[in-house]
Amino acid sequence: MERRDFIKTVGGATGVGALTAMFGSDALGAVETATQRTAGLSALQVAQDEDFWRDIQQAFTVSRGIVNLNSGSSGACPAVVTDSLIRYLWQQEEAPAYQRGVLRPRLEMVRVGLAGLFGCDSEEIALMRSTTEAMQTVLHGLDLQRDDEVLITTQEYPALVGILKRREKRDGIRIKEISIPAPPESLDALVNIFEREMTSKTRLILVSHPTYLNGQLFPIKRICEIAHQRGIEVAVDGAHSFGQIDFKHQDLDCDYYATSLHKWLSAPKGTGMLYVRRNKIGKVWPLTYTPEGMDDNIRKFEMGGAKSYGTFLGITDALAFHHGVGPKRKEERLRYLTHYWAQRLQALSNIHFYTSLEPDMSCAIATIHVEGMQSSVINKYLWDKHNILTAGFNILGINGLRMSPNLFTTLNGLDYFCDVMENVAKNGLPEPYSSM
Ligand SMILES: Cc1ncc(COP(=O)(O)O)c(C=O)c1O
Repeated sequence: MERRDFIKTVGGATGVGALTAMFGSDALGAVETATQRTAGLSALQVAQDEDFWRDIQQAFTVSRGIVNLNSGSSGACPAVVTDSLIRYLWQQEEAPAYQRGVLRPRLEMVRVGLAGLFGCDSEEIALMRSTTEAMQTVLHGLDLQRDDEVLITTQEYPALVGILKRREKRDGIRIKEISIPAPPESLDALVNIFEREMTSKTRLILVSHPTYLNGQLFPIKRICEIAHQRGIEVAVDGAHSFGQIDFKHQDLDCDYYATSLHKWLSAPKGTGMLYVRRNKIGKVWPLTYTPEGMDDNIRKFEMGGAKSYGTFLGITDALAFHHGVGPKRKEERLRYLTHYWAQRLQALSNIHFYTSLEPDMSCAIATIHVEGMQSSVINKYLWDKHNILTAGFNILGINGLRMSPNLFTTLNGLDYFCDVMENVAKNGLPEPYSSM
């Protein structure tokens, strides 16, 4: 979608007030000029065009008193999404029992919009509240038998591993965890590891598209190809890929895919999506009651009781915004922002990267550690003393400080982060942090 069309779409959906809030009073002229100036440029070229991104930064209402480098934990909605969400909630509350009947049928447009972006049939998309809810539907719903093996990596999200561990206790399935170096040598190395570990007992692979620890991108399509040849199904944890990376289902070819729309798509909090390949819907048991005749209907996974339909309708506005920015332009901008801070810190000999910056290995998420320091303490120091929001953890030997910028991130913010980190790397942390 052209930038001009984007403004019209967004403006049409929300009204002039919201548009002004997004882009300022002389918005249209500025945006049209930017569009003309960047017409014909590749996504990679636009990624470095600060004038272009300034308008997009202004679309968000995030606090400028904080350098927010933790979009991995939660995305932020642009004003247009928040405005629409509030409007839908007002409408919902006007006469809830009646409005339920008005708003609920419109969720079919959400399904169609998500299927369009994911590149699948809308009858393969279920609307869920989160990645956790979406993926647990698959992990609990599959008919796995005693001694059936589920292959996972050591870097899978703990809540999802926890679901499998429960099945291990309850049903006697076996979890086989593959240790993955951070970063791995190459995508080929990852494929080889998976190929080596698949056995005749393997029924399912659970793998992240990018992992939450270091943003490593996995070669999902190649893993699926080998798995499918052996009759093994693949469930992809896409919490961090939908809306961050520009891809379609055919680029993965997985059987199941779960994502959180409140992360990288910038949709309202409490929205997620589940993809189930059409011919697999019937074999996955729904976790809740479903009426007769719905065995092969993707909507059987959505029967978990009342929902805030207005919240889910907000996804349509997030999709319009996403298409307006352009999925490829967004991916390249996010990668550019990561490389911007990473290149400065790579110059310091006591800072090490858990993330490879090769374009096919990562995008918006990268994780480092400073020699001899606990990343969780640096994380606390950055927040306490500098209003810089990162994620710090020590999980499975990854003593990581994770940065995940977003479209609202400014280069000034990244410069400030780098200044502070250079000082930390050269001079250490001040008291009391140095003795924590
Ligand atoms: C890789 C990964 N999977 C799943 C989740 C869970 O997402 P949600 O809270 O939307 O269920 C997260 C959350 O950060 C995550 O990083």
